[in-house]
Amino acid sequence: MSGLVRFGVALEKKILEEFDRLLRTRHYPTRSKAIGDLIRKELVNQQWQSDRTVTGIIALVYEHHRRELVSRLMDIQHHHHDLIISSQHVHLDQNHCLEIIVARGQSGEVEELACLLQGVKGVKFGTLVRASAGEEL
Ligand code: NI
Repeated sequence: MSGLVRFGVALEKKILEEFDRLLRTRHYPTRSKAIGDLIRKELVNQQWQSDRTVTGIIALVYEHHRRELVSRLMDIQHHHHDLIISSQHVHLDQNHCLEIIVARGQSGEVEELACLLQGVKGVKFGTLVRASAGEEL
C-alpha cells in the first residue's frame, strides 16, 4: 500500500464506541482498516452506478434434473462468454446445483447478465456480489 495519508476525524463519542464494538465483533485489527474498507465499499458502489469496469460474482442455485433450465443457463453464458472469467459448479445434493460465475466488464453488462441468469424459470436462488475490478481500489 503506497501513499498513506493520516487525517483526523471527529465523531460523537457514542458512535465511536459502537463502531469499536462492531470492529471487535468483526475482528478488525485497526480503525484505519475498518474506515478504509467502508470508504472503498462506497467507492465500489459508485463504480457500479457509473457503468465502470467491475467484477461481479453471480451465484445461482437450481435443480439439475430440469434439463431445459440447465441448457438455457448454458446458452446465456455462451452468449456472454466475453464477460465471464470463470464458473464453478458444485453438486449441492441429489437434486440441487450451485453455480458461481465470475464476470468482469461494464457494470451495466454484468448486471444484465445476472438478471438474465437469475430470471431463468427454475432458478431457486440467485444473487450478485458487486465487487471492484481491482484496478483502482
Ligand atoms: Ni450439479
